[in-house]
Amino acid sequence: MDTTNPQHYSQNNALQHSVGVSALQQYMTWEEGDVVMDAGSGTGELCNYISQQPGVASVVGFDLSPDFISYARMNNSSPNVLYHVADASDPSTVKPEWRGSFSKVVSIFALQWIKDKATTLKVLNSCLKPGGEIVFVCDVEKSKASEITPALPKWKTYLGDADPNVFPWPSSDLTNDRRSILFLESCGFEVIACDISNYQYSFDSRDQFREYFRGGQTELHSIPEHKQEEFFDDLEKMAAERHWVTGEGAPTMQDVYLVVHARKM
Ligand SMILES: C[S@@+](CC[C@H](N)C(=O)[O-])C[C@H]1O[C@@H](n2cnc3c(N)ncnc32)[C@H](O)[C@@H]1O
Repeated sequence: MDTTNPQHYSQNNALQHSVGVSALQQYMTWEEGDVVMDAGSGTGELCNYISQQPGVASVVGFDLSPDFISYARMNNSSPNVLYHVADASDPSTVKPEWRGSFSKVVSIFALQWIKDKATTLKVLNSCLKPGGEIVFVCDVEKSKASEITPALPKWKTYLGDADPNVFPWPSSDLTNDRRSILFLESCGFEVIACDISNYQYSFDSRDQFREYFRGGQTELHSIPEHKQEEFFDDLEKMAAERHWVTGEGAPTMQDVYLVVHARKM
């Protein structure tokens, strides 16, 4: 994804925000004095939301992108929210004082950008207090976004076979979800829920639909600027034919994601 343009992401992340809020409403119970970490916090909108939940004392949001963190500090600041640059997959960038300090960890649509999920989940586990809880949301291999490249062979020259920077949760683990549970246990978690959830999101306009993809698809950078509208025309047509989206003026998109709710063992 394009993390050099935080303003664009912030203006076009309504889908991620809405999935994040509903996952937290469904799976997380806030408690008095909660100290919360948001891993891969992006431009900070969810940190702001969490900081206003009853009982939450403070929030630490961190992200790999210094541009996103600067934007979050300027636009989503709050007295009980702190932002830092750190790499969730690199234990050396995690502050020593974070270890064992958080009662809750959340991470929304960040894990699909990280190849080494075992190290990352162990890092997040190490930041939790004993008995602390995590809720994370991750794209899965069978999500629509992962199928765009194979579904548009005309654009293969630009898109390649797949985005080399995206690592959705493997489908093989979903068909045998015991495998996901064993994996999460090996990272130090007791799994409370490991669900494939459907979401349906209605964009306000076709432009908003296009901008959502423009921010999220790393491969789009390889399509020359003057061909991008043609690409989006093809994308929209394909999405409608495959019933990924419905509605003419304001498309509604349906997709699936993995949501995990687990407790530090
Ligand atoms: C799709 S955005 C989601 C942002 C935010 N959670 C939201 O829901 O709007 C993915 C975020 O993960 C961040 N990210 C990717 N790899 C990361 C890593 N190794 N450590 C921390 N953040 C990472 C990206 O910089 C980006 O801000």
